[in-house]
Amino acid sequence: MDNFVFCSPTEFVFGRDTEKQVGELVVRYGATKVMIVFGGGSAVRSGLVGRVTDSLELKQVPYVTLSGVQPNPLDTKVYEGIDLARKEKVDFMLAIGGGSVIDTAKAIALGVPYDGDFWDFYCGKQTPQKALPVGDVLTIAAAGSEASGNTVITKSDGMVKLSLKTVFVLRPKFSIMNPELTYTLPSYQTAAGIVDMMTHVYERYFTNTTECEVTDRECEGLLKSIIKEAPIVMKYPRNYEARANLMWAGSMAHGGICGVGREEDWSSHHMEHEISALYGVTHGAGLSVVGPARLEYLVDYKAEKLAQFARRVWRVRISQDYREMARGGIECMRRFYRELGMPLTFKDLGIENPDIDTLVDNLHKNKGEVIGEFKSLTREDTRKIFELCL
Ligand code: NZQ
Ligand code: ZN
Repeated sequence: MDNFVFCSPTEFVFGRDTEKQVGELVVRYGATKVMIVFGGGSAVRSGLVGRVTDSLELKQVPYVTLSGVQPNPLDTKVYEGIDLARKEKVDFMLAIGGGSVIDTAKAIALGVPYDGDFWDFYCGKQTPQKALPVGDVLTIAAAGSEASGNTVITKSDGMVKLSLKTVFVLRPKFSIMNPELTYTLPSYQTAAGIVDMMTHVYERYFTNTTECEVTDRECEGLLKSIIKEAPIVMKYPRNYEARANLMWAGSMAHGGICGVGREEDWSSHHMEHEISALYGVTHGAGLSVVGPARLEYLVDYKAEKLAQFARRVWRVRISQDYREMARGGIECMRRFYRELGMPLTFKDLGIENPDIDTLVDNLHKNKGEVIGEFKSLTREDTRKIFELCL
């Protein structure tokens, strides 16, 4: 196990009706004027935005709103938000939504106190030092942005989708998590969220660092819980307990605890970000295609850990042949994704003739000639993985 620092300072406020506490929470974290950020309308239609503004008004906290954040959020909305926040002298960002909305609020929070272009942080020219405080009311269990210091934005000029990881600066001050708010999710989004959170766990699980028994078992337990609860929410979208377990699983998957003491390898995510940048697909759906393909490619190199995953998570029969076990585990995972209604190939994603040359070029332009830790992947490797998605 490697040395590590683990700090997750976010205040999680979990359960029914918790959105009514938002006024009290923003005051506690020093807000004098709030910018509420939300997406394409689901949070308005459900009445959630109204309940949040009621709570702010009760505490006499002034606010402005920024609506229309789209999935795979664009830099254009961030620039709009930075201008508005400066003009209105906003000092607290409040996101109502999922990863796209929270990530946009985080990007605005970084951009407001910075003199240059906020994109400097994403392309690595600058390291984030300060940001406006961010809080959120989560409406989908998926990206885990409510528990992470990360944000992912797409630059519309060239459609470059980049993630920015900060240890502390962008961790939300608080995340309000009411599982009932996820009842209105379309089943495709629920399923994509499940795939995303599972991937967040195994991007940390498949590592070359050894002797991480506690962290390994946390990952396996989390995956098994998700596998148990997922079919229940797919069949009964208003089952509170299953929704609650999945919502917390999404935060645990990405809050950092699954990665302590070891290197992480985000290759499936890096590859998926190129697919969603180029084709605009839902992030979790893209992962459902490229994630198992990457693991399949790794069987010849990393069979032992894949066999452990197969045995402990998917209960694959023990065999002397690790490769056979590994393949069995990946097969179970694909079957599970298929049962959720998730795609397994580019074609299932609606991409008939994927431009693999461009995907590979963009990936290595953005992430370097060699990506990955568990297994280093060159252009030749990533091309073969994209080809396994056909
Ligand atoms: O825009 P509205 O109308 O709100 O609809 C959204 C959107 O169409 C809808 N939705 C959300 N909650 C709903 C709802 N519809 C009905 N009822 C509700 N309660 O769901 C759609 C997807 O929303 P989005 O925010 O895009 O989903 P998700 O949370 O999956 O976020 C995906 C984004 O997060 C990034 C992804 O790359 C992608 O851009 N990620 C962010 C991470 C982070 N910051 O740590 C890590 C992840 O790996 C991921 O890369
Ligand atoms: Zn993800």
